[in-house]
Amino acid sequence: MSSRLRIALTKGRLQDKSVELFERAGLDCSPIRNPGRRLIHALPNYPLDAVLAKGPDVITYVEHGVCDLGVVGKDTILEKGGSFYEVLDLGFGKCRFALAVPRGSDFYGTYKTRRIASKYPAVTRAFFEKKGMDVEIIKIEGSVELAPLVGLADGIVDVVETGATLKANDLIPIEDVATISARLIVNTASMKLYKEQIFDFIQKCEGLL
Ligand code: PRP
Repeated sequence: MSSRLRIALTKGRLQDKSVELFERAGLDCSPIRNPGRRLIHALPNYPLDAVLAKGPDVITYVEHGVCDLGVVGKDTILEKGGSFYEVLDLGFGKCRFALAVPRGSDFYGTYKTRRIASKYPAVTRAFFEKKGMDVEIIKIEGSVELAPLVGLADGIVDVVETGATLKANDLIPIEDVATISARLIVNTASMKLYKEQIFDFIQKCEGLL
């Protein structure tokens, strides 16, 4: 059976890198390059429709089977979890989760419960649980680096790419939590139903990595 597959792409930085990879694989991605306000884009020379969504929503669409495939950061996968196949490390969007603290502070040198600000509370909880360390986690929606600067937290767990944001705010990364890059994910039922088509797509990408 031949039908069109649907892929959910994470909007923003990963979207551009995904398009670059797919174009190198010979897919005409011109509709995604000029998306306008349109949210579903049919690729003209390959049986694939692309939708653009926020990272956590990419996982939701793939889990529910309304998208067969997705491109999403490992950071989002670690935070949200879910039931799907993670089939390929796409090699772009490379960064890391790190624990960072204000310069000069002795993070481990106290018995009082430390407060950690993060956009990723589940990742943060798992990291400190593994250490057997009791911390208070405060969920922040963005610019997490601000929290220790204004005295809300003793440290942050956040995505570090170049390290420029930490440096500009006098924060020092003291421990790596996990490495991150973009992943190709597949709905579990689609993998069985459209095995050949999905394998063809995976191979196209894999051959370029
Ligand atoms: C991310 C992350 C850091 C910054 C890291 O934030 O949360 O703040 O990028 O990048 P760097 O190491 O290259 O400086 P983003 O730009 O996504 O914005 P946000 O903080 O508002 O979520």
